[in-house]
Amino acid sequence: MEKKKIFVTHVFLDKYLKELKEKYQVVVWSEKDIGKEDLLKEVKGVTGIISTLTEKIDAEVMDAAGSSLKIISNYAVGYDNVDVKEATKRGICVTNTPGVLTESVAEEVIALTLALFRRIAEGDRFIRSGKYKGWEPDLLLGTGIKDKVMGIVGLGRIGRWTARMAGALGMKVIYFNRHRDEEFEEEYDVVYHTLDQLLEQADVVSLSVPLTEETRHLIGERELKLMKKTALLVNTARGAVVDEKMLIKALKERWIAGAGLDVFEDESRIPAEFFELSNTVLTPHTASATVEARLAMARIVVDNVNDALEGRQPASLINTDVWKENAKK
Ligand code: GLV
Ligand code: GLV
Repeated sequence: MEKKKIFVTHVFLDKYLKELKEKYQVVVWSEKDIGKEDLLKEVKGVTGIISTLTEKIDAEVMDAAGSSLKIISNYAVGYDNVDVKEATKRGICVTNTPGVLTESVAEEVIALTLALFRRIAEGDRFIRSGKYKGWEPDLLLGTGIKDKVMGIVGLGRIGRWTARMAGALGMKVIYFNRHRDEEFEEEYDVVYHTLDQLLEQADVVSLSVPLTEETRHLIGERELKLMKKTALLVNTARGAVVDEKMLIKALKERWIAGAGLDVFEDESRIPAEFFELSNTVLTPHTASATVEARLAMARIVVDNVNDALEGRQPASLINTDVWKENAKK
């Protein structure tokens, strides 16, 4: 019998796939980003797709793969790049990599906060420019974070870990989430607010929600205007959670003090306006890029494929209905 085929969209994943290669015919795209046309060709007849957040896995891709496709194993915790509804209709499992990049991403939230309030990136640029000529008492005065208010939008795993770290650093922590978690509030001294209240009170607004229809442009003109003039916006979620055009205006006109951004609406074309603003710290979608997180993500991606194809429900299956339906058959 011919081995089932697994298509992998990125060559960096190749080194993690030894186990899969023993059982399946694993085809790895060896160039940089795969375009739609090549993707449609490559997935023909595959049983599994291992994707990353840079490919859109939509109905067209699923149709091109055909009825053999059983699993889309996404190398990311976010899965807004996969049309889960369409996958569910076709009985295809969709999995992500939750739980293992939580600390990495939350650490980035704290890093961006400190980089901005303590003007780390600015200071680094200042020295490199050759302008620093010796100590001055009021040079690059920053803002301390003790007793400042960390406002967390989205209390998932990442939001929770951010809350715990911020609390440990002496910040007051408030959050907004669709559901309240009174046990967490009590245990970590965290206070629930509506989104508007949070925006009005927070010294740092950190976004840790997934990108969905509900959260697209969650932070726009109205929301940015509710924020304090001294406040920071930190986005390690998805670029499109923020209306980027409005954010640029807000930063230029100083409606808010600064922004720490790890994600952008179009990461292949980041608006040049951001580069000219001294009140931004920009990182290239590296919040989950620690050795520890990346290794663990790869492990989960492989386990999810093995499980789905060997009749075990993958631990991080998103569309669990598919599993129930398939079990009935
Ligand atoms: C990274 O952005 C992820 O969703 O894992
Ligand atoms: C990530 O895993 C989250 O749920 O925040």
